[in-house]
Amino acid sequence: MILINENYTKLPGSYLFSDIARKVSEFKAANPTANIIRLGIGDVTKPLPQASIDAMHKAVDEMANAETFRGYGPEQGYDFLVNAIVENDYKARGLDISADEVFVSDGSKSDTGNIGDILGLDNIVAITDPVYPVYVDTNVMAGHAGELGSDNMWSKIIYLPSTSENDFVPELPKNKVDIIYLCYPNNPTGTTLTKDQLKVWVDYAINNKSLILFDSAYEAFITEEDVPHSIYEIDGAESVAIEFRSFSKTAGFTGTRCAYTVVPKKLVGYTKQGEAVSLNKLWNRRHTTKFNGVPYIIQRAAEACYSPEGKQQVRDTINYYLNNAKIIREGLAVQGLKVYGGVNSPYIWVKTPNNMTSWQFFDYLLHELNIVGTPGVGFGPNGEGYLRLTAFGTLENTEEAVERLKKIK
Ligand code: MLT
Repeated sequence: MILINENYTKLPGSYLFSDIARKVSEFKAANPTANIIRLGIGDVTKPLPQASIDAMHKAVDEMANAETFRGYGPEQGYDFLVNAIVENDYKARGLDISADEVFVSDGSKSDTGNIGDILGLDNIVAITDPVYPVYVDTNVMAGHAGELGSDNMWSKIIYLPSTSENDFVPELPKNKVDIIYLCYPNNPTGTTLTKDQLKVWVDYAINNKSLILFDSAYEAFITEEDVPHSIYEIDGAESVAIEFRSFSKTAGFTGTRCAYTVVPKKLVGYTKQGEAVSLNKLWNRRHTTKFNGVPYIIQRAAEACYSPEGKQQVRDTINYYLNNAKIIREGLAVQGLKVYGGVNSPYIWVKTPNNMTSWQFFDYLLHELNIVGTPGVGFGPNGEGYLRLTAFGTLENTEEAVERLKKIK
């Protein structure tokens, strides 16, 4: 008899974005002429930087030639990419991260989901709420989450509300927790923490021997001075934090897949007997056993993002999306709606009008204005009464969406 991982049966319905895609397809089937503007899932629309395209063409030619062909590469990533990451994303900011602390992968979704492989089952896990659903769902799959209550909260997960009432700065947990997921700039609220605010978390982790899983996938959108680009800008973070970074939103790799995770060598976890074990070693073991590396062609494309032309092209794309974010933010604010985020982030977090629930507002936008957003409650109980819009559409669609949103009464 085949026994299943019964934790999967505890998961409600399907993954948030699959649910939304299904609703939109049903609407489209019933209304084939509707001109739907998709500002739901955070998927990019601009093509890859030209520097990456050129690098991929060159790499394809190398793969066609016996002298330059590559088979399996190092699971952790080729030196050319790892060194470019270390130099540009860390050394250039005065941060001392070394090549053997960087693990190139196919995405931060995979890495934030898989990191639980090296962590014990009895850890108490805290998430900010609302939150990127992958953190919660993967903890459910691994049996860390307990049972789902009628309040839509998992019994073993500690929820740290992040709402307009606390300016989207969650309070420290009241009881000791072992693992804390932080995502800044935040998905879904688009808000950030300053260096001082992030330091509070790093200090908490140091004092409580906790681990921070810091998802920094939206780092490239930071425009304000005081917002840290890396958690390692905070003193002591290299002994308490793993950082996840991605080329997806930075350089349009959502379909191309390339990301990396930094696991500092100073970081340790403990056996039940209290023996310290290097998390870098454990992640290296996991990565080399379960993953065979990102394709050479893709790693060349990622490396090209750090060339002078690549950097400029990436910057131009980010600025394009940030301009969309400004158009949405300002357009909705003029309507009298409460909007958050969109300054250091491609996400705009909108308070629903007229006391609508998140799903009511989602349905209203889809059916009446043919705009797809993401209902805030899909990101957790404290997202109820909000909706997320993304700035990753085209400028034309963004402007058209804001025009349509003027119809909200
Ligand atoms: C989102 O819309 O939250 C993101 O696209 C999800 C992801 O990056 O996996």
